[in-house]
Amino acid sequence: MKVSTFISLNILAAGSAFVPPAQPTVKAASKLEINQSPLNADRQARTEAEGSFQSSSSSSSSFALDGLDHNHHVNRRSAIAGSMGMMLLAPTAVSILAGNAPVANAAATTNTNAIPTWTLDNNVQMPKLALNTVGLSMAETEQAVQLAVAEGITHIDFHPGKERDGVAQYLAKQQQQQQQGGSSRPKLFLNTKIRKAPPGTSAKDAAERTRNQIDEDMKALNVTSVDMLMLRDSPDCDVMQAQWAVLEEALVSGKTRSIGVINFCEKALTCILQTAKVKPALDYYMLHVGMGRDPLGLRSFCDSKGIRTFAYGALGEPGPNDEILKSPLLTKIGRAHNNKSPEEVALRWVLQTGAAASVRPSTTFGLGMGACVEPDCGNGIAKRAKSYSWSLTDQEMAELDAMTSPNDNPTLFSTSGCPNAFVMPK
Ligand SMILES: *[C@@H]1O[C@H](CO)[C@@H](O)[C@H](O)[C@H]1NC(C)=O
Repeated sequence: MKVSTFISLNILAAGSAFVPPAQPTVKAASKLEINQSPLNADRQARTEAEGSFQSSSSSSSSFALDGLDHNHHVNRRSAIAGSMGMMLLAPTAVSILAGNAPVANAAATTNTNAIPTWTLDNNVQMPKLALNTVGLSMAETEQAVQLAVAEGITHIDFHPGKERDGVAQYLAKQQQQQQQGGSSRPKLFLNTKIRKAPPGTSAKDAAERTRNQIDEDMKALNVTSVDMLMLRDSPDCDVMQAQWAVLEEALVSGKTRSIGVINFCEKALTCILQTAKVKPALDYYMLHVGMGRDPLGLRSFCDSKGIRTFAYGALGEPGPNDEILKSPLLTKIGRAHNNKSPEEVALRWVLQTGAAASVRPSTTFGLGMGACVEPDCGNGIAKRAKSYSWSLTDQEMAELDAMTSPNDNPTLFSTSGCPNAFVMPK
């Protein structure tokens, strides 16, 4: 029954397997001091160079399965021991304890990461690498945003609720600093999501909820416009069409600068395209090595409609996949590139297929949870931010394209309206 599914997901979501230490913000602050630079002069040039493939979008995970997103979650620190999240976390927790902390080094922290952009309709510049804040607390979200901005990542992909509130906190502090004469920070590309309508909601009510949520989120963020709003699917085509019309309204009224969808399978896309006046700029879905470039034909379908692929889950979802992290092929390829780790190779593959990607800060995540705990959070973000500073050879791309495992359903986190949607493990 749906309701109990919601509850168990929320509880798991709440189950962070360890308690992050109290806000280690020192590193972030000093980085920000040093890195005022920012907007990458050669960004446009890189866009031309990198942006030739189309692809598209989607969203994140886990428990946005419930349609209620994270804002109903109870205290995530009231952890549930022995949850799946715990098992997934174990290796990373060990590496945190081992603490290969980064050495503060001004030269090394100078931000030279030029993240290329896509030019969407209305000349909206969308950075092709985003920070995925899924499952982070409000404080961790704020910290992860700081760390990401220090590394040149300004595209923030967040959920309504506590992540949104962490972004709001970052924005408020940034505004304060600027008013006090501080240097201005790069403008964020704010990318957020419409919650799923609870099962059984009528199209009219779903539209009203969507309208209300947009206003609520903008008020919480204290902004008059976001850069991207993404819609989740529904088993009910009328609901998706009515919600999409509300996103189009928001686009026209300037509340958002672009609109897209999350975890939309071909059937869901076909539904909204029947009535859409504006097509989704992107579809945000799972893509990682082992799935091939065109899982279930979704990408070629998107491409045929001019919908780009925005990918999450480069390391697997809902937890990092050991088959990727320990892959002999990824390890071998990484060695040939100045000892890149399999996780860096996995992300580079996604980007080099022409998709944009949204990344969790580190490998510390599991079903319904994420973490931004130093030093892993800053180290992980710094590594991910360098994804455009190197590339795989055609031969290596071909070898990675040919991997058939671990395979996954790109819209695993859709509703029952799409094939083989996620079911909670017993
Ligand atoms: C919201 O933003 C405005 C300026 O855009 C600012 O003056 C105001 O203080 C902000 N409100 C809050 C609650 O941060």
